[in-house]
Amino acid sequence: MSHKSILILDGKELELPIIEGSEHEKAIDIRELRNKTGYITYDPGLANTGVCKSSITFMDGEKGILRYRGIPIEELAEHSTFVETSYLLINGHLPTQRELNKFSVMLNDHSLVHEDMRHFFENFPRRAHPMGILSSMVNALRAFYPELPDEEDEINITFARILSKVRTMAAMSYKISRGHKVVYPRHDLSYCANFLNMMFDSPVKPYVIDEDFVRALNVFWILHADHEQNCSTAAVRLVGSAKVNLYAAISAGICALWGPLHGGANQKVVEMLQEIYEHGRGPRPFLEKAKKKDSNYRLMGFGHRVYKTYDPRAKIMKEMAHKVMQKVQEPDPLLDIALELEEMALKDEYFQSKNLYPNVDFYSGIVLRALGIPLNMFTVMFAIGRLPGWISQWKEGRDDPEGRLYRPRQIYVGEGIRHYVPIRDRSI
Ligand code: CMC
Repeated sequence: MSHKSILILDGKELELPIIEGSEHEKAIDIRELRNKTGYITYDPGLANTGVCKSSITFMDGEKGILRYRGIPIEELAEHSTFVETSYLLINGHLPTQRELNKFSVMLNDHSLVHEDMRHFFENFPRRAHPMGILSSMVNALRAFYPELPDEEDEINITFARILSKVRTMAAMSYKISRGHKVVYPRHDLSYCANFLNMMFDSPVKPYVIDEDFVRALNVFWILHADHEQNCSTAAVRLVGSAKVNLYAAISAGICALWGPLHGGANQKVVEMLQEIYEHGRGPRPFLEKAKKKDSNYRLMGFGHRVYKTYDPRAKIMKEMAHKVMQKVQEPDPLLDIALELEEMALKDEYFQSKNLYPNVDFYSGIVLRALGIPLNMFTVMFAIGRLPGWISQWKEGRDDPEGRLYRPRQIYVGEGIRHYVPIRDRSI
């Protein structure tokens, strides 16, 4: 195969090298394009643009493949834990028992949040959205904990700090928003069990940890742990490219994730299912509305920039939704609505022709509801899951010898030069 391409521009030929990834993905290397021709490329939403080389996550949107460091998501969801998967993403290999023990001890050691930070949580308005609180508080962590030093061991401590404290902060923020006593992390509980306990334990009603729920949470977070250059990860890399500290970069990722087209979709899906339920006439009118271009309405939890087939995470999440439903006292009517809506959409010409399938967010809210997580914290749950991905992508960007400050170009379509007119001479 040829390893260069020829571009003919204004009658002149330009040779552009071809780059090939380890899974045979091909790219045209245009780094010299503007220097040599004066042209730039136009690619809104960066849908055709590779911004980095990465060895963290591989996805094939046509075949529905997702692998972290080469390992299929299905195998990790079946056998791994969120902590082990985090180690894998950050360090590039599955940990030995010793490495895993050391990592778990670090997560435990760094799980407490500085007591002074509680004052911030206490002073946010009660109705503040938890994603806004989380992004501010992650940024604020930088004021309480030092800048990343150069030694590798110290950097690993910062990674552990973020993974562990963000989880603690999320639960703390929930308790404070309800006016309840904060529950501290416990050294004898695993990462996921600790989170559930911090969320739901109370002096008047001790929380009984259910291992099936702990497993469900592990799987939920494994499924969210990385997804290559998605919107929030691109934000982390972009902000990180200015050499800002990791806390600030992750805070930017949290802000990007909040949006309803990205991680915020999990909350929107449940709101949509709830609306269908309350409406009482089945999902059909909602499906029809989503097909009308001028309605500005979309089926939340459907469609994906990369997946043009069933999102492999959605498949696992759907199974998980069925599993957790067996554990709850009253089955969630939203699951039946989701199943009906999915079936309708998959048979519909509009959704078929545009390759719109359920994405990870379609069933995730139903799993979270079964675990007792409040609706406005759904995207926070996504954010905690995405932390190992953001950390490993930030680290890869930091160490990339070809990495540069992100600074895209634009095509200016505004006014040509015109001169300043004093206010008295301006007509309306
Ligand atoms: N409902 C109805 N029509 C849709 C939907 C949908 N959910 N998604 C895409 N379309 C249509 C869209 O109107 C467009 O039609 P046309 O070609 O006639 O203009 C076509 O499909 C392509 O859509 P697009 O917006 O150009 O595609 P995109 O790749 O820019 O957007 C997306 C991907 C995820 C933003 C979009 O599918 C969407 O808005 N989905 C609903 C929100 C959602 O579930 N987001 C979670 C994504 S998965 C979690 C994550 O990783 O963030």
